[in-house]
Amino acid sequence: MSAAVELRGVTRTFGKVRAVDDISFRVEEGEFFSMLGPSGSGKTTCLRLIAGFELCDSGAILLHGDDVSRTPPYRRPVNTVFQDYALFPHMSVLDNVAYGLRVRRVPRREREDRARQMLATVQLPDMAKRRPAELSGGQRQRVALARALINQPRVLLLDEPLGALDLKLREEMQLELKSLQRKLGITFVYVTHDQHEALGMSDRVAVVNRGRIEQLDTPDGLYERPRTAFIATFVGTSNVCTGPLAAALGHSSKTVSVRPERVRFGDGGDRDVTLSGTVLARQYHGATSRYDLAVADAKLCLVCPSTEAQAEPGQAVTVHVPAAAIHELEPADSGLDPGPGPDPDPRNGPRDAGPDGPAEAHA
Ligand SMILES: Nc1ncnc2c1ncn2[C@@H]1O[C@H](COP(=O)(O)OP(=O)(O)OP(=O)(O)O)[C@@H](O)[C@H]1O
Ligand SMILES: [Mg+2]
Repeated sequence: MSAAVELRGVTRTFGKVRAVDDISFRVEEGEFFSMLGPSGSGKTTCLRLIAGFELCDSGAILLHGDDVSRTPPYRRPVNTVFQDYALFPHMSVLDNVAYGLRVRRVPRREREDRARQMLATVQLPDMAKRRPAELSGGQRQRVALARALINQPRVLLLDEPLGALDLKLREEMQLELKSLQRKLGITFVYVTHDQHEALGMSDRVAVVNRGRIEQLDTPDGLYERPRTAFIATFVGTSNVCTGPLAAALGHSSKTVSVRPERVRFGDGGDRDVTLSGTVLARQYHGATSRYDLAVADAKLCLVCPSTEAQAEPGQAVTVHVPAAAIHELEPADSGLDPGPGPDPDPRNGPRDAGPDGPAEAHA
């Protein structure tokens, strides 16, 4: 069966910037597929290429098996929800939602009925007469969604659609979006730089870095089996260990990653690596506590439920790590020209589990 969306070796450059650099992936019918990456990594450009607002320099884009690389946007069977929603301020909510049907010359009665149904689907049944300016951010977001869904697209492209909302509303909308996607069976290609959003909603996630896909995997695959140091630290927090600490973990002359919650206090069994160290610092975070430990001349971070917390700075401790939680990392596309992307290479930062701290990104 042909994929809902397929990119084959797609490249798009702007001057010297390779915004999208030889990207290939398939999105299956009905899949919730996310593109996750830092700012400037090429996510929006990728989405605009699928929608047809940009054309690729090389490669091909297929929708449901048809090559649409040269097809104008309005003839591609996709709809887009933009981050700023792009609602028409002078039109009522109902007219905004019905707009796509008006363009297609659907009679007024029918388009208004369908727009009302769509407003009910996104749980805004009583807002039809209001103008966008009279709505909250979350309500505007739903109107934008209803407007995109009314054309019954088989593929919906969403560019950071929840970016403008506060955390609580964003979490609510994540649940609603996910259940709407399931209910309507539409393929979603969802762009975000928020790892929680990507992990929590997606069937699969493509992590994009400098215009390339660094890993494409299920959420738990990304978290449990990160391929590179960039993935290990961009998706969750990780100890990225080299030198004596990697050797103590049984992987001499390699770089390995260990999630802080897989490091536990106390002696381990046959399948664990047991290490001794000293507590450098403790941070209390409510449900969990974080410990920075000095182990094998390096820093190792441990996170455990605060109820299990049991050590003070200066104290000598024994910790253990399941051998299965220690992952060898590959160098990130080391043989390839990284291009002039704006993102600092995570391997160049204070990442090694050296004296300056454990390798980690955003908690
Ligand atoms: N029209 C354009 N002209 C020149 N450069 C562009 C253009 N559009 C994007 N770029 C550049 O291409 C790169 C990728 O941009 P893109 O908007 O795809 O990133 P993004 O991953 O969506 O970032 P963000 O998370 O900040 O939205 C950036 O370096 C950006 O400056
Ligand atoms: Mg963007």
